[in-house]
Amino acid sequence: MGDGPKDDTIATVLIRDATDDDWPAIYPFFRTIVDDGRTYALPVGLSVDEARLVWFEPAPWRVFVAIANGVVVGTAKVGPVRAGRGSHVATASFMVDPDRAGRGIGAALGHYVIDVARSLGYRAMQFNAVVETNTTAMRLWRRLDFRILATIPEAFDHPDAGLVGLHVMHRRLSSST
Ligand SMILES: CC(C)(COP(=O)(O)OP(=O)(O)OC[C@H]1O[C@@H](n2cnc3c(N)ncnc32)[C@H](O)[C@@H]1OP(=O)(O)O)[C@@H](O)C(=O)NCCC(=O)NCCS
Repeated sequence: MGDGPKDDTIATVLIRDATDDDWPAIYPFFRTIVDDGRTYALPVGLSVDEARLVWFEPAPWRVFVAIANGVVVGTAKVGPVRAGRGSHVATASFMVDPDRAGRGIGAALGHYVIDVARSLGYRAMQFNAVVETNTTAMRLWRRLDFRILATIPEAFDHPDAGLVGLHVMHRRLSSST
């Protein structure tokens, strides 16, 4: 190929709010991750427009992209876990292009989303459904000070492991990361 840096060299990850123009770059790895069926309980085979409605939730949700070497390599979203009197607790979701995994992009997105959520006034962050076999995510969330509150038994139908648990994970946002 060219003389530029190799594709797997990620010098700096820029994270910014996503725009509609980012969706064509997100959708291919969204489809890969969802259709793989190991991490998200979402319907497989969503069209480009159906998937956009799932990921680009309306305000007050915020959606972000991670950019490395000018390419969208990951995305995250954060919003209230529930409405009204539960809306001071955030929830968030993350996807990193599997071709770019293991290079710190998920960690960068995680730190960024925690900082944004704190600056928006959320008091805590809760993940509702972390598949217990998702060891990469589990290690990352633990490193970011999330702890397991409960595990919903046999709540996820994993393509290899069968019925596995979904962890509810939580961390407060009032102290610094
Ligand atoms: C979970 C997910 C967001 C993590 O993203 P990621 O970019 O791979 O995460 P990181 O690179 O920050 O960390 C993952 C691992 O890579 C390692 N790593 C970090 N920087 C690295 C680098 N420069 N070189 C090599 N490895 C590195 C980390 O130490 C970590 O290793 P560990 O799991 O053994 O502790 C991503 O795998 C993903 O999108 N998975 C599918 C969807 C999903 O599971 N979402 C979360 C649902 S709860």
